[in-house]
Parts: sequence; C-alpha cells; structure tokens
Amino acid sequence: MSALTVIYAVLFYVATAFLVGGVAYKTYVFARTPAPLKIPTTPAPTTRTGVVMRMLREVTVFESLFKSNKWIWLFGIIFHFGLLLVLLRHLRYFTQPVWFWVVLIQPFGIYAGFLMVAGLLGLWARRFLVDRVRYISSPSDHLMLALLVAIALSGLTMKFVAHTDIIALKAFILGLMAFDWQPLPADPPLLIHLTLVATLMIVFPVSKLLHAPGVFFSPTRNQVDNPREHRHVAGWSASLNNTGGRQA
Ligand code: HEM
Repeated sequence: MSALTVIYAVLFYVATAFLVGGVAYKTYVFARTPAPLKIPTTPAPTTRTGVVMRMLREVTVFESLFKSNKWIWLFGIIFHFGLLLVLLRHLRYFTQPVWFWVVLIQPFGIYAGFLMVAGLLGLWARRFLVDRVRYISSPSDHLMLALLVAIALSGLTMKFVAHTDIIALKAFILGLMAFDWQPLPADPPLLIHLTLVATLMIVFPVSKLLHAPGVFFSPTRNQVDNPREHRHVAGWSASLNNTGGRQA
C-alpha cells in the first residue's frame, strides 16, 4: 500500500471525526443556550405549525434574506442550490449499488458545479464592491469563499480537463467506509480536491458555515408569537422562584 493512500485514508478519518464530533458538540451547545427573551421577528406565526412552516420556508427559499436583500438572495440561492445538486451527485462515490434517483440527477449535477462557482463569485464580489460589506468582511469570510471556489474549480477540472480514475477512487472511498483500504489514484487535481475537502470538513465546526444547523436555534425564527397567551420562561430561570429573580 502506497504512503499516499495511507496519508489520505488517515486524513479522511480525522476530518470525519472533526466534522461529526464538532457539529454534534456545537449543536449541543446551541441547544443548551438559553433564550431569555421572547423575540420572534414579527409578523411571526402564532402557532407551532406556523413556526415549522416559517422555518421550512427559511431553509428552502431563504425567505427572510429575500425580504432583506435581493442580490445576496439571488447569489445565495444559486450557490446553495448548486451545492445541493453537487453533493447529491457525489453520492454515487459512496453507495453501491447507486440509488436510481442519484443516477437520474447526474446530468444536472455537472452544471451545478458552474452554478456553485457563479453564486460564490457573486457573493465574493459584493465583499469587494459594496463599501459597507467590505468594511465588515474579515479574513475568514474571504477564506471560506476561496476554499469553496477552489473545491468547485478542482472538481470541474477533473470533470472537464484532466479525468481521474473514478472506479479506483470509488473503490478507495468504499474501502475507507468498510475499513478495507484500497489504493488512491495519484492525479494532482484529485489530490488537491480531496485535500481541500478534508480542510473544509475540519474547519466547518469552527467556521461561519455553522449557520446551517444554527438557523434552527435562532430565537427570532423559532419562537411562537404568543407572549400574551403564555408566560415566556427561559430554561435557566425555571429553577428560580417568583421573588423577582432571587434564588429560592
Ligand atoms: C470525499 C469527498 C469528495 C470526493 C471523493 C469528490 C470527488 C470528486 C470527483 C471524482 C469529481 C469529478 C467528477 C467527474 O469527473 O465526473 C468531483 C467533482 C466535483 N466536486 Fe467533488 N468530491 C468530494 C467532495 C466534494 C465537496 C464537499 C464539494 C463541494 C463543497 C465538491 C465539489 C465538486 C464539484 C463542484 C465538482 C464538479 C462538478 C461535478 O462533477 O459534480 N466535492 N468530485
């Protein structure tokens, strides 16, 4: 077994541990963080079902972003929709036999790579062109965009410029999942793609990309607008009696 195969196999186990462990831990922290105030952004739903529907619209069509900024919404939707298709298309490397619907979306998935890049470049351009956004942009905002663009470009390079051995790559990935390591093809675009992907997996739990699970814990989005019907009791205050907040 080549040193390359061992290095990448270990890298992917480490990256998976960071991604799964990190996201699980951060989600646990989010879930335990008290929301002391009733602060749904109004007009807000007055029932639980209404909140579920609002959240569904938020994560599928980015409703609040649409209301606040049409350009960011457009580029955001283009990027995320492209990313979704690309990731679903990648399922063929992880499953054997490949599910029929993954086969069906393959042709669209290819173009989704271009959608991803177009959306990312639009989002990135505004960090240079819009004064107010440039002022609040930190190095990590630029770095996450650069990382995602580089992943997409290295993927598109394999698709359109220098093919890799997909069969051998799939054997490597399935081997990783079965703890039965198989040789990894050594083409530079693939190695670059995989190194960047592993980097993304490792930084994801400590990056701004955590907004994906985070949106579900946002009090302005997940609260029912019923402060008159029900007294709002934050988790941590349940242990206090009603003597004005002093410990019982
Ligand atoms: C272990 C995980 C991954 C593996 C093994 C992998 C492998 C590949 C391969 C072999 C291709 C070339 C496809 C072809 O020639 O038909 C590709 C393309 C691509 N990859 Fe990945 N990739 C992984 C993760 C990712 C992730 C996380 C992203 C996005 C954040 C991504 C974005 C892309 C894009 C945009 C393309 C070009 C469009 C396409 O072929 O779908 N990849 N990837």
